[in-house]
Amino acid sequence: MKIAIMGAMPEEIAPILEKLGEYKTTEYAGNKYYEARYKGADLVIAYSKIGKVFSTLTASSMIQHFGAQKLLFSGVAGAISPSLKVGDLIVATKLSQHDLDITAFGHAFGYVPEGSVYIDTDKDLITISKEVASEMGKSVKEGIIATGDQFVANEDRKNWIGDTFKADALEMEGASVAVVCNALDIPFFILRSISDAADMDASFSFDEFLETSAVESAEFVMKMVDKIVD
Ligand code: ADE
Repeated sequence: MKIAIMGAMPEEIAPILEKLGEYKTTEYAGNKYYEARYKGADLVIAYSKIGKVFSTLTASSMIQHFGAQKLLFSGVAGAISPSLKVGDLIVATKLSQHDLDITAFGHAFGYVPEGSVYIDTDKDLITISKEVASEMGKSVKEGIIATGDQFVANEDRKNWIGDTFKADALEMEGASVAVVCNALDIPFFILRSISDAADMDASFSFDEFLETSAVESAEFVMKMVDKIVD
C-alpha cells in the first residue's frame, strides 16, 4: 500500500516529516517528494505550492509517477460556517471550485460540461476519520469545502461562496486534488484546520495561526494513516 500525504505549503507537511525523521527526497517536475516506510506501508509526502494548478500537478505526480493508491490532504482553511473557529477541524464531504464560471453560457457556478459542480470524497476514509475523532475525543465537522485561486479576505465574497455552494470552509487546493483523484479512481480525503475567518482580518489570522492549525491537521491525518495501515 502506498499512501500520498499532501499539503500546499511547507508548514502543512513539516510536522509529518518531523514525525517520520528519515525519508528519501526525490526531485520531480519542479517539486520535492519525500518517501518513507511507515509501519509496513510506503508513504509519499509533498507540498504542492499554493493554488489549483500546482496542487493538480502534485496530486497527479504522486499518483501517476510515485504510484500512490490513496491520497490524504492536510492543511488549513478559512471558515465560512460561523460554527468553525481557529484550530477546529473540517473534513470535506464534497468539494467544488468557486472560481469556475461559465455562467455566461447558462451553466451553474462551478460547472463545466462533462464535469460536475461537486466531487464527493471517499466514504471509507470519512468513516476512519470518525473513528480517529472519537478516539482523540475531538469533534470534527463534516462539510462542503469550496476551492479557488483566491485568498479570500472579504466578507461579501465569503458569504457569496457560502450561499452559492453551501460551503462551510474555503481554501485553494482541495477541489483540484478531488478532480485528479476522481479521474484516476484514487480514494482521497481532504482535512483542513481553520486558520482564519476569510474576512478583513484573514491575512493576519492566517499568519498567526498557520503553523499551529497545520499541526492540528497533520496530527489527525497521521492518526488516520495509523488506522489505514493497521
Ligand atoms: N486558506 C486558509 N485561509 C484561506 C482563505 N481565507 N482564503 C483562501 N484559502 C485559505
